[in-house]
Amino acid sequence: MSKNIVLIGFMGVGKSLAAKHLAEKLQRPVISTDELVVLKEKKSIAKIFQDHGESYFRKIESGIVAAIADKENVIIDCGGGVALNSHNLELLKKNGIVFYLSASPEEIYKNVKDQTNRPLLNTPDPKNKIKELLEQRRPFYEKADYVIDADGKTGEQLCVDILMLFKKFSAN
Ligand code: S3P
Repeated sequence: MSKNIVLIGFMGVGKSLAAKHLAEKLQRPVISTDELVVLKEKKSIAKIFQDHGESYFRKIESGIVAAIADKENVIIDCGGGVALNSHNLELLKKNGIVFYLSASPEEIYKNVKDQTNRPLLNTPDPKNKIKELLEQRRPFYEKADYVIDADGKTGEQLCVDILMLFKKFSAN
């Protein structure tokens, strides 16, 4: 069995892009927790937040994590809040190596400013919200097995960085 590659980190750091490149390179499927939540609820994430609130979303998200954590040889693209729940991370670490894609608030803002699909950033001052949330979340994200500096990197570059560490890990 080869371990899963699990990507965590803040919204807009490039997790999904990196996952896509990794999938092509390794010929492995990608599982996106966000996509599975949307499929299960048959609603967009924005609509789930609007109709039921964040804690409902987190409950569904944790259920998805529990359902997929036992898989093997896959790439798991986690929504930005998955790692805030230590049980989620524990489950994902059983079969997976966890990579935290870390970017500066400025880079994140640049990447998300033209998008409207992230309810947590739908505020009058998203720049400040990113800073605030990132400060709160950093200690959780840093529980990953590896931290990758994602600032200014393309999906392809992230993929190269992740694979280098993953191969090193797998050789041991
Ligand atoms: C969230 C990140 C989003 C999505 C939801 C909440 C978060 O996923 O799960 O909007 O709390 O950081 P992405 O990180 O893929 O944008």
